[in-house]
Amino acid sequence: MGSELIYRGSETQPSSDSYSPKPVKPWASVTRTIHYLLREQRLLFVFVGIAIATLIFTVFPTSPAPYVAPHSRFTTLIPDSITYFPIETQQKFSSAHRLGFGSANPTSKIPLGLKRKGLRIVVTGGAGFVGSHLVDRLIARGDSVIVVDNFFTGRKQNVMHHFGNPNFELIRHDVVEPLLLEVDQIYHLACPASPVHYKFNPVKTIISFILLQNLITGLAKRVGARFLLTSTSEVYGDPLQHPQKETYWGNVNPIGVRSCYDEGKRTAETLTMDYHRGAGVEVRIARIFNTYGPRMCIDDGRVVSNFVAQAIRKEPLTVYGDGKQTRSFQYVSDLVEGLMRLMEGEHIGPFNLGNPGEFTMLELAEVVQETIDPNAKIEFRPNTEDDPHKRKPDISRAKELLGWEPKVSLRKGLPLMVSDFRQRIFGDHKEGSNTNNASSS
Ligand SMILES: NC(=O)c1ccc[n+]([C@@H]2O[C@H](COP(=O)([O-])OP(=O)(O)OC[C@H]3O[C@@H](n4cnc5c(N)ncnc54)[C@H](O)[C@@H]3O)[C@@H](O)[C@H]2O)c1
Repeated sequence: MGSELIYRGSETQPSSDSYSPKPVKPWASVTRTIHYLLREQRLLFVFVGIAIATLIFTVFPTSPAPYVAPHSRFTTLIPDSITYFPIETQQKFSSAHRLGFGSANPTSKIPLGLKRKGLRIVVTGGAGFVGSHLVDRLIARGDSVIVVDNFFTGRKQNVMHHFGNPNFELIRHDVVEPLLLEVDQIYHLACPASPVHYKFNPVKTIISFILLQNLITGLAKRVGARFLLTSTSEVYGDPLQHPQKETYWGNVNPIGVRSCYDEGKRTAETLTMDYHRGAGVEVRIARIFNTYGPRMCIDDGRVVSNFVAQAIRKEPLTVYGDGKQTRSFQYVSDLVEGLMRLMEGEHIGPFNLGNPGEFTMLELAEVVQETIDPNAKIEFRPNTEDDPHKRKPDISRAKELLGWEPKVSLRKGLPLMVSDFRQRIFGDHKEGSNTNNASSS
């Protein structure tokens, strides 16, 4: 009994003395190896899988325009009547995406089948004139945009068409107060931009530039976001160099009525560069020259909006001084294009962003007459203090390093703002009301 328990092999083993090995199964060793590897070398497989995937994504071509087309779901959120971009700009915009415009690295490729992840962007002053057009472009590109605005000169109506879009947020906030947000980029536009508004409370104006540090530390420095400052051609003051290059340091009156703005913007440039040098904040600086377009404040004292509003209301066009002082006028879509290129590019600046076409005030008045009302009268008034005699940007740096130059001439751009002004002045909501209607009514 005991032996049976100890040895049962005799029952199962063949009785023959001759040892014949089991027939060799051809796949046995392979399957054994596979089982072993699967059991013991899982990690190795993970690495091999990653390597193969990386190889495929690197070798195969990237998707050219992964998420934005002119008729994408984002663009359709913006009615045609309020985009205000000339056709060429819209086409150019979509081709900009194909170039990888919109990622932190403009040349970065997006692997086939993967959607480009939109950026999270703050636009301070996004409910204002320039800011709202910028917001339109960023949303259309697929980014998430947070507008921060205290509505001093901006209007909710400028961004209302984005309400309900999950990629859009609006925060009523004064940028002099600290604000903590997690973002990739900050376009800083919040600032009263017209003389009427920045002279309204000059102390607050100049202080708001100094308190820019709250914005830079709370948003840019803390989370490593890129910060773009919208400075101004006013940093050149009444320039002694013509046209103005970025290397020119300007001729600014430090104690005049415009100084709260001019010197404030110069201070903002200084602070921006000091944060860059001292704290490694990634910054960009744009020096914006006179810009016009739909959604400009009516009656804010800026010459283009003044003339257009006066011509529409059949009032005389008020020319300050002898009307021989010059300015260059840039259509807003050109500016937005320049700002986005600057933000996405590798160069800090400062960059002049303006249209080098130079017009005297009288010539501008003539274009307004041609466009809106040939019978509009011109009325001369004494000039305002510290009004610069000449302004014209040298944009060779932006051309060379950003590949940017304005496309919309004054004669082409002016009509694009007339229907918007008519709607706001007369509450005329007729779609497609154009300059001919304006001048014949
Ligand atoms: N439009 C131009 O011709 C021009 C020229 C040079 C520079 N810029 C600069 O571009 C930027 C935008 O100008 P714009 O023409 O759109 O002016 P805008 O007045 O239409 O827009 C400015 C926006 O900032 C908001 N704002 C002002 N102070 C604020 C504060 N403390 N906190 C939060 N929001 C505040 C306003 O409510 C408004 O929505 C400004 O920084 C301006 O200095 C504009």
